[in-house]
Amino acid sequence: MVTPGVAGSPQSASRHCDVPTTRLPPGSVAIHAVSACLPLPGDQDGNRSTLGTMSTPSGLIDRIAVIGAGFMGGGIGAEFALRLEHDVRVTLWDARPGGAATAVARAREVADALVEAGILLPEVATRRLARLATADTLAEVTDGASYVVEAVPEDLPTKQEVFRDLDRITGPDVILASNTSGFDPADLAKDLSHPARVVVAHYFGPAFLIPLVEVVPHPGTDPWVTERTAKLLSDAGKRPAVLGRFVPGFVANRLQQALFREALHLVRDGVATPEVIDEVARFSFGPRLAALGPFTVADFAGLDVYAALSTNVWPDLSAETASDAPPAELASHVASGTLGVKTGAGTYPWPPEQVQAVTARRNRALGDALRGMRDDD
Ligand SMILES: NC(=O)c1ccc[n+]([C@@H]2O[C@H](COP(=O)([O-])OP(=O)(O)OC[C@H]3O[C@@H](n4cnc5c(N)ncnc54)[C@H](O)[C@@H]3O)[C@@H](O)[C@H]2O)c1
Repeated sequence: MVTPGVAGSPQSASRHCDVPTTRLPPGSVAIHAVSACLPLPGDQDGNRSTLGTMSTPSGLIDRIAVIGAGFMGGGIGAEFALRLEHDVRVTLWDARPGGAATAVARAREVADALVEAGILLPEVATRRLARLATADTLAEVTDGASYVVEAVPEDLPTKQEVFRDLDRITGPDVILASNTSGFDPADLAKDLSHPARVVVAHYFGPAFLIPLVEVVPHPGTDPWVTERTAKLLSDAGKRPAVLGRFVPGFVANRLQQALFREALHLVRDGVATPEVIDEVARFSFGPRLAALGPFTVADFAGLDVYAALSTNVWPDLSAETASDAPPAELASHVASGTLGVKTGAGTYPWPPEQVQAVTARRNRALGDALRGMRDDD
């Protein structure tokens, strides 16, 4: 059984929670990375490492490879290059010719966003962009790397093939970290010679502006892999949250889907339009959640108040289950190809100038939030 805990809490004291907290580059503002640590699978079952007598890798990770240099991989690679205080080389490879070079060119935008957010000084950002490089093959990108980020499309056979290739060409002490949005790390580690070095490190887009990364080991992940991953993320200014085990959607997407299901329910029932629901979320509990989190909000409200609210509200909440998914609203958008911003329309129309304005607003708000975080947050 997994006991929840956070770094520094009594129950976590002897666990894998010694994720260091500060690792900011000179010229950066202080942003605290914290691990919502839970006991790792190895705690229950002892050392499950398949590494035999190999000593646990230690020291700084100074060579990082990124496989799949698209929206997420490009942002993750750029952030490692820009935010790690120690010297690092980040090499990107993409199956699409020119894909890695495009990502390196776009790293300038990441640098500008971090400068704009007050996270990096302009001269530091410019200097660190030189840490990025491209490779022409999988063998070349992984050469000398001790940490590999997999960010290829969310297709299980594609990812499994990448992991089999990586397992073949990299040593057993090279961490293989997947940015999968929802696959079980056990399925990625399946049939590998060295499954113990596989872990999920799930970012949120845009990777360089959202601090948290969900770190999800599988039952056979060696504890040093999870710890080293969390340490690297922390060194790069992220807030790693280590989960006790895999569940579909991890934590954040489960919470977001619960909210979205209820939002659809309210629109269907004629209670509020999408515009009103967006307004309510943005200007009421949204900002407060960013400061407190749901359990702290409940403690501030009073648990008696929450008990009364749950009695009153829960019977009326959406009760849709798996057989109702995907909901008709989403299915019809998918069928008509109105997929949101990327196709120019979704729930709302998205002309380019509107996309630009809302992207700027989002980046400004996220940058402000990032800059406003303190070491003791
Ligand atoms: N988009 C998001 O907001 C988001 C958020 C969190 C996690 N993720 C996850 O990140 C991963 C990547 O998503 P994305 O949005 O960056 O997709 P993307 O399409 O922007 O990037 C994927 C890249 O991988 C390349 N690629 C395809 N097959 C490859 C292979 N076999 N080897 C090497 N490169 C290959 C593609 O050319 C492309 O450049 C997915 O697993 C996705 O679920 C996405």
